[in-house]
Amino acid sequence: MATRQTEAGTSSKRTDRRRPAKGRSPRASAAASGDTRRVQGGVATSDVVPSAHVGENALVFARILALHVPAGARVADVTFGKGVFWKQIEPGAYDVHASDIELKPSARAARPSFTYQDGVDCRALPFEDASFDCLVLDPPYMEGLYRRKTDHMAGSGTHAAFRRAYSNGRATAEAEGKPRAQPRWHDAVLDLYARAGREALRVLRAGGVLIVKCQDEVSANKQRLTHVEIITGYESLGLYCKDLFVLVRPNSPGVSRLKKQVHARKNHSYFLVFEKRSTKISSVVDLSAGELARRSSRAPRRRAQ
Ligand SMILES: C[S@@+](CC[C@H](N)C(=O)[O-])C[C@H]1O[C@@H](n2cnc3c(N)ncnc32)[C@H](O)[C@@H]1O
Repeated sequence: MATRQTEAGTSSKRTDRRRPAKGRSPRASAAASGDTRRVQGGVATSDVVPSAHVGENALVFARILALHVPAGARVADVTFGKGVFWKQIEPGAYDVHASDIELKPSARAARPSFTYQDGVDCRALPFEDASFDCLVLDPPYMEGLYRRKTDHMAGSGTHAAFRRAYSNGRATAEAEGKPRAQPRWHDAVLDLYARAGREALRVLRAGGVLIVKCQDEVSANKQRLTHVEIITGYESLGLYCKDLFVLVRPNSPGVSRLKKQVHARKNHSYFLVFEKRSTKISSVVDLSAGELARRSSRAPRRRAQ
């Protein structure tokens, strides 16, 4: 009888009778049996999913799904864009519901088996509560794509293809119809992640997985660690950050008008994997009191009466 192992190699009391089948890697065997737990007696292998990758979104996305989302799962990709994330996924592997505020014209043809819905705002999804196993969120990640006038947006002229791929190309005020009430600059980026995160929480079933793509940015000369803001913000909603992947661009980033470099030029982005859990876990650590005080939102235990 095999004892259940944690990733650090310590055993817990739960037991598991299943062992990897001969000739199969532990991961393939676990996937085939629907069991992704690690068991004592596994073989030494380098066939594991690492946390950092150099290359394309589609490569990392496929590895994240293989690790965290079981085949056949009902998945909502609510910022589907061109569907680039899905390039390496077998057709039919998942029940994919693709939506976007403005689906790219090429999107449907590439994956005819997906269910499509155009004109869907990820902040107000037309889906029932607890109706998805997984939700994918990849909204425009930089403040330059949230401007009140189109000619102030990032990606003009020769960079127009970038703007088309990463946003719906509309000025924020134009799309919202409430120019004064909108958060600005980097706060506009966070505001979209925040509202979309709350919707994701609503439509995910308990134990469901939220995959979020983001990139840090320097905004108004300030370093804004978007991935940290999203992790701590989503944790406050009750989402547990189960995994984090770093994607490094294979090519060198260029700067068109550099006077003096102040911050490192970003050539990496993140995929964050959250799980909808009933117990909140917080990464916010308060060191100001001189001793470790982790902000926890667990309900305090009631004393026996
Ligand atoms: C970075 S792209 C997504 C790329 C996509 N993951 C892919 O694989 O091709 C961002 C997408 O978010 C969409 N978008 C922007 N605001 C949105 C909103 N409020 N609701 C839904 N989609 C939105 C844009 O139209 C754009 O297609």
